[in-house]
Amino acid sequence: MMRAVPVLMLIAGSGFFLSGISHAADSVEHATVLDHTSVTYLSHCGGCHGIEGVSRNSFVPTLRNAVGGFACTDEGRAYLIRVPGVSMSLIRDDQALADVMNFVMFRLAGTSLPKGFRPYTAAEIHQWRGEPLSVPDFMAQRGQTLERSLAACAQKTAKKL
Ligand code: HEC
Repeated sequence: MMRAVPVLMLIAGSGFFLSGISHAADSVEHATVLDHTSVTYLSHCGGCHGIEGVSRNSFVPTLRNAVGGFACTDEGRAYLIRVPGVSMSLIRDDQALADVMNFVMFRLAGTSLPKGFRPYTAAEIHQWRGEPLSVPDFMAQRGQTLERSLAACAQKTAKKL
């Protein structure tokens, strides 16, 4: 039982930090009100990606302040759903998976989230999970997808200046 306390506080702390809402004064109280979507993320994804989207020293990509880099192209937007961990997730309900991916984008993507990012819809999830990525050189394709998207992100930013 003693061990449960810091874990709960950590979860609560990350929630406040990432949502940008300041609840420092009542952080312990909020430890008990994790919403359904964050619990789903924790149980289905957090084991590999970490509760804050940080998967240090592993082959699992870090989501925090990084994953949004894929979202400036349609290809990258689809990639994030077509990766095996997402498309083949045991979260079978499309809306529930959309909610989890929107949690990933709006809460974990942080500084990498492109301005004006549109939340994933259940229809998008339905379509793209039906086309799971299976290419021989997965990491090479991932790199190209990311490169194209980051270039598109940079262009968008440049236009606004
Ligand atoms: C068994 C460990 C594991 C689980 C569980 C898992 N993932 Fe992943 N995830 C990975 C690995 C490894 C990759 C890198 C691509 C690959 O090799 O499949 C990845 C890639 C991703 C990517 C693409 C990010 C990038 O930088 O390429 C996203 C987004 C993602 N996962 C989200 C999720 C979500 C959301 C869940 C829960 C529904 C989830 N993952 C469950 C291991 C996991």
